[in-house]
Amino acid sequence: MFENALPSVLGAIGNTPLVRLDRLAKAWNLEGTLYAKLEYLNPGFSKKDRIALQIIEEAEERGELVPGRTVVELTSGNTGTGLAIVCGVKGYPFCAVMSKGNSMERARMMRALGAEVVLVDQAPGSPPGQVSGEDLERVEERAKALVAERKAFRADQFVLRGNVRAHELHTGEEIWTQTEGKLDAFVDFAGTGGSFTGCALALKKHNPRIRCYLLEPETAAFLGKGEIVNANHKIQGGGYSRTLPLLDPSLVEDYLAASNDDAIEGAHALAAYEGIFGGFSSGANLFAAVSLLRGREKGNAVAFLVCDSGLKYLSTDLYP
Ligand SMILES: Cc1ncc(COP(=O)(O)O)c(C=O)c1O
Repeated sequence: MFENALPSVLGAIGNTPLVRLDRLAKAWNLEGTLYAKLEYLNPGFSKKDRIALQIIEEAEERGELVPGRTVVELTSGNTGTGLAIVCGVKGYPFCAVMSKGNSMERARMMRALGAEVVLVDQAPGSPPGQVSGEDLERVEERAKALVAERKAFRADQFVLRGNVRAHELHTGEEIWTQTEGKLDAFVDFAGTGGSFTGCALALKKHNPRIRCYLLEPETAAFLGKGEIVNANHKIQGGGYSRTLPLLDPSLVEDYLAASNDDAIEGAHALAAYEGIFGGFSSGANLFAAVSLLRGREKGNAVAFLVCDSGLKYLSTDLYP
């Protein structure tokens, strides 16, 4: 008998659709093609399900993760949600460590999926909804302490190559196949830099001439300019003003920047013209892709990720 069912929800991770944004391009008189990869259609509503699966399965293969061992990781919510799903299905206890600056939908979702969620106070002066590198350092300290206490496996998304491999073996390959190789550029807002590096490696393996642009918050253009005007910004999930061990700078064509308002406008345009409901970083990615089509990539094809769902931001000012 032919059964057309997946053995678990883990089989639903990846293979997300790629959409051509022809309505938006027409409305804004853009020359060229925009491609959006709908990562919010993963089971945890973000691209981070991919790295959760890859990191956990690589740790199992190395023998580092055995039944009963706890998994710990710091998260802006998305990696934690992915890990809560993967650990839940595979039977590992999972503890997510998150800044109180991230939206609370995320903590609730992780708890519903069986995770223990440890919330860490923001640094003095850091506004809620705007997580800085300093806030993240506090989360890091707490995660380290929990790993030691519980002899846990740290699913360290800033360090483990599984993060890059998830996007190199899957996300980037999928983009190449879905565009039939007719792609000139890729742009990505960096948190760990895992998506950027992984997708860039895959795309450049097929065609070294594809240009890959790395996006940062305008006030925290640390990687491109070494400049931090204000480390706090609204683009949750990245822009941490820190060096990124997984980022390979030789893959970066150039560094771009987006403001809070650019990200919000971008997210609104994706929703209004294309029926695509993304978060701040998705809006920032669209803004940057449009800027490229209006400038040095005029007439070309540019791809980006819709990193997560706008539903994760209903408690913020993204969609008032
Ligand atoms: C919503 C969102 N956008 C962008 C990123 C950045 O992705 P990466 O860590 O692959 O650079 C993250 C990472 O957590 C995220 O959650």
